[in-house]
Amino acid sequence: MSDPIDYARYDRIRPIRWTGDALELLDQRRLPFEVEYLRCATSDAVADAIRTLAVRGAPAIGIAAAWGVVLAARECAAGTASDAAPELEPSLRRLNAARPTAVNLAWALAQMRAALVRASAGEGMDWRAALEAEARAIETEDLAANRAMGVLGASLIGPGSGVLTHCNTGSLATAGFGTALGVIRAGVASGDIARVYAGETRPWQQGARLTAWELMQDGIPATLIADSAAAHLMKTGAVQWVVVGADRICANGDTANKIGTYQLAISARHHGAKFMVVAPSSTVDMDTASGELIEIEERDPAELFAIGGTRTVAEGVAAWNPVFDVTPHGLIDAIVTEKGIVERPDTAAMQALFGR
Ligand code: MRU
Repeated sequence: MSDPIDYARYDRIRPIRWTGDALELLDQRRLPFEVEYLRCATSDAVADAIRTLAVRGAPAIGIAAAWGVVLAARECAAGTASDAAPELEPSLRRLNAARPTAVNLAWALAQMRAALVRASAGEGMDWRAALEAEARAIETEDLAANRAMGVLGASLIGPGSGVLTHCNTGSLATAGFGTALGVIRAGVASGDIARVYAGETRPWQQGARLTAWELMQDGIPATLIADSAAAHLMKTGAVQWVVVGADRICANGDTANKIGTYQLAISARHHGAKFMVVAPSSTVDMDTASGELIEIEERDPAELFAIGGTRTVAEGVAAWNPVFDVTPHGLIDAIVTEKGIVERPDTAAMQALFGR
């Protein structure tokens, strides 16, 4: 499939930078008004950055964790890969515990463990260099996957379409270019997407603070809506595709993504809009049969009590703050990955592309 995208225009933001002795993360708590990189010189600093959302988005936290293992290796005095493996394990476990829902985190750490096992088998191999090469490969492959998915996903979208997206799935959430936002970039570049709507994504406002900012950087006209305006917008006929990312896609196609995604899928089905999930194969978890088995992260209810640092809720009010939900596979029209597209996903269709 041809790739008509001008990446010099549409792929300029890099949220993760390896300097050779530290990891720099574009601090997403401070965007859009401050564009500052947070320097992490230790593995635990990376785990903290993941937990506190300085870096967020499923692929990005996997990549950051892989670099966190590289930092753990620098803190470890072991001479061989075999000696290093048990010494690194506590750091890997702390990285893994930083957030529970996005499978990319555990996936990236498994890749790093496998690289260490390969280094143990290789006589005289520099195991620290092997880990660094693996982290770089995870990052490079994510970018390539995003670009491939952009072209594939955009091929499903007809001319003159309006799209609605949720949360932030762009460069900030990945190695670069983005998943769902990559499809939107590609669809805008090809001229097929005529209107882009971004939901603000309460309570952390990934849509309002991050997606709207990214689209501005690219000069892509977009309209921000309150999350509660989505059904009303779809009723007007302005949206042909809802395009979202994923934190974990189960063996039957059930998909965990940012809280609010499920209600968008219900609304899309009701209004005759199509629903597309875009994610690299590192987000596919064929070991989890269905969505009810996914651990849904619940964050501090305090995230609901304030807007922009100003308290808006009376003292003493209780709140529940699950930050992901699961969209049942029956509401999904297409799952787009770099390996191909699964239309009307179910266990058989998923197995046909991903095996067991
Ligand atoms: O809590 P976040 O901001 O890490 O949640 C992010 C999302 O839900 C994204 O949609 C998902 O990770 C895909 S990012 C390419």
